Amino acid sequence: MTKVSIEVLSGPDARQARMRGDVRDGLSGISKSIPPVWFYDERGSRLFDEITRLPEYYLTRAERSILEARAGEIVELSGAATLVEIGSGTSEKTRVILDAMAETGALDKVVLLDISEAALREAALQLHRCYNVPVEAVVGDLRDEFDSIPAGGSRLWVFLGSTIGNFGPVERRQLFGRFARAMGPHDRLLLGADLVKDPARLVAAYDDQAGVTAAFNLNVLEVLNGELGADFDLEGFSHRAVWNVEESRVEMRLRCAAGQEVSLPAVDMRVSLAAGEELLTEISTKFSEDGLRGELVAAGFEVDRCWFDDHDDFMVVLAGLSDPTYD
Ligand code: SAH
Ligand code: AVI
Repeated sequence: MTKVSIEVLSGPDARQARMRGDVRDGLSGISKSIPPVWFYDERGSRLFDEITRLPEYYLTRAERSILEARAGEIVELSGAATLVEIGSGTSEKTRVILDAMAETGALDKVVLLDISEAALREAALQLHRCYNVPVEAVVGDLRDEFDSIPAGGSRLWVFLGSTIGNFGPVERRQLFGRFARAMGPHDRLLLGADLVKDPARLVAAYDDQAGVTAAFNLNVLEVLNGELGADFDLEGFSHRAVWNVEESRVEMRLRCAAGQEVSLPAVDMRVSLAAGEELLTEISTKFSEDGLRGELVAAGFEVDRCWFDDHDDFMVVLAGLSDPTYD
């Protein structure tokens, strides 16, 4: 039967519990951070969508151009009938792959997983309208095992947008491990990753003229105020985007101009921020082809193909399990 189903793993209670744990861990130490997953409430998802159309944010256009040029090849190499998208957002670029799967008549199901319930529901309904195949949407956290993803068939797992770059090396290894454990011997992983380039272009992509990225960054404090009853004074923070050459990543930070005493009743915490202190809110790792290939191989994958856009800004990788018994 053709339908849309929504499974909510991260409902209000689970979401609150996870957020409380993340905030306790992130704000207790000397260098303070908040994981980027909490950007994406309804407003945050809308702001990210706006970011993808900014002149400075080349990533989405570069990745789309690769998918447009290679969709037929990707679909043929994967031989998949089911598309599983992790961190799916609007699934807008994914339609390029879905069009190619639908054209061969192979497409039988779409599965989406995202933390942002609003974005997920809208994407699921749209994909169902457009492709008339069952769409199973899971509101969940990709930091958990992918146990809720329906098994069976030949699946193309897609993880686009360079979201992989929002994780540090240890978290990336763990995430690749979760993909490997969930994938079957004939499944394929399609991964989009941003590449190292001129730091000026990188910083501009995360500090646009129109201030959309600044609003996106500050939104994480709105989320904590709204959902944890915190009292961050947003006026006292400014957006910063910094290229960290040693770690090969752009870091988004929120700089607290004057000191601030913040209370977070939901976690029973008070946090003192000094004048000039910065909260790390996101890392966006920029990869080399060899580096990313190496990480995939170390995690038990075999790379089928890598594709690049015309400017070598972005890379899309298709990989399968090298040892299907890997766990
Ligand atoms: N894949 C889309 C969206 C990228 S934005 C694209 O290529 O444009 C990152 C997406 O991942 C958002 O939709 C966000 O809600 C989701 N996301 C971020 N962290 C997540 C987490 N820990 N668990 C589940 N989804 C997450
Ligand atoms: C989703 N993620 C890959 C984006 C990135 O480029 O790191 C999020 C983003 N942050 C600022 N602009 C876009």
